[in-house]
Amino acid sequence: MSYDREKQVAIEATLSAAKLCEQVRQAIPPAMEKGDKSPVTVADLGSQAIICKAISEVFSHDPIVGEEDATELRKPEMAHNLAKVTEYVKGEIADATSEQVITWIDRGNGQVGQRFWTLDPIDGTKGFLRQDQYAIALALIEDGEVKVGVMACPAYPVKDHKPGMLFMAVRGEGAIMMPFATAEPTPIHVVKADDTANLRFVESVESSHGDQDRQNAIAQAVGITAPSIRMDSQAKYGAVASGQAALYLRLPSPKSPDYRENIWDHAAGAIVVEEAGGRVTDMYGKPLDFASKPKMMENQGVIVSNGIIHDTVLAALK
Ligand code: AMP
Ligand code: MG
Ligand code: NA
Repeated sequence: MSYDREKQVAIEATLSAAKLCEQVRQAIPPAMEKGDKSPVTVADLGSQAIICKAISEVFSHDPIVGEEDATELRKPEMAHNLAKVTEYVKGEIADATSEQVITWIDRGNGQVGQRFWTLDPIDGTKGFLRQDQYAIALALIEDGEVKVGVMACPAYPVKDHKPGMLFMAVRGEGAIMMPFATAEPTPIHVVKADDTANLRFVESVESSHGDQDRQNAIAQAVGITAPSIRMDSQAKYGAVASGQAALYLRLPSPKSPDYRENIWDHAAGAIVVEEAGGRVTDMYGKPLDFASKPKMMENQGVIVSNGIIHDTVLAALK
């Protein structure tokens, strides 16, 4: 089956959401706090509204499992924030109303099933707030397998151009990157065995999202001598897929040893790396479970590599 229409809709929607995010980022937004104390901004909500609307229009029956919902935004005391989100959404969808914005955001309350989309409207909100890396990540999952993945990374550096890189993959068709500035897609590939110059590894900026001591020890054990590149969001998958790093390590933080990863934090990145020739598993070598729940209860830690060094990394973890 061809995913051309899905691919096109996903690219257009994430690029439109990326424009909204960049508008918001020009005036560093104050973060609101979610129930779990993680930050959320008007950009997270606006981005989700734009993408859910775009998917709903073309694939009206497809569920969307999104990170955000409009519960908070509905409260009367949040009217000011709702007006703000709507104002930003209007930059992309001129006739949008607040009621529609709420409806679109809540389209993201869908369930995991045989076929569904998963969306992180801003992955790496902390990076976004720091003016660092962030990603708008959207993936289509069918029969438990990611079929299409798109990551728009508005702050990703592009040689000789303004920042902004889109990473995209369709199962069986390879992976590409496309600078926002040129819109010219180039096939991407992971680091080859003899490319020692790019034998680097990436990890989170947020130290509470990983175990830096162990990540560094594992990297050394597989022969990586360079210090890590620290990067927020699924842009790390882009770095591995495009051959700027051979490895991305995400081991459970000693402060949250029972943390379980969300599907929207990994689905788009995982297919991009796999289609670029790499491998993605949990820290025990198990495939990531995108089929069961928004949280991957059967997986812990995430290991992303160029494939070649993957088994060595898993062995070092034992
Ligand atoms: P990153 O930018 O790679 O550090 O990852 C950002 C993501 O980390 C967010 O989307 C959160 O869902 C996720 N996150 C939150 N808390 C934790 C944690 N304790 N361990 C691992 N990931 C986390
Ligand atoms: Mg996220
Ligand atoms: Na997010």
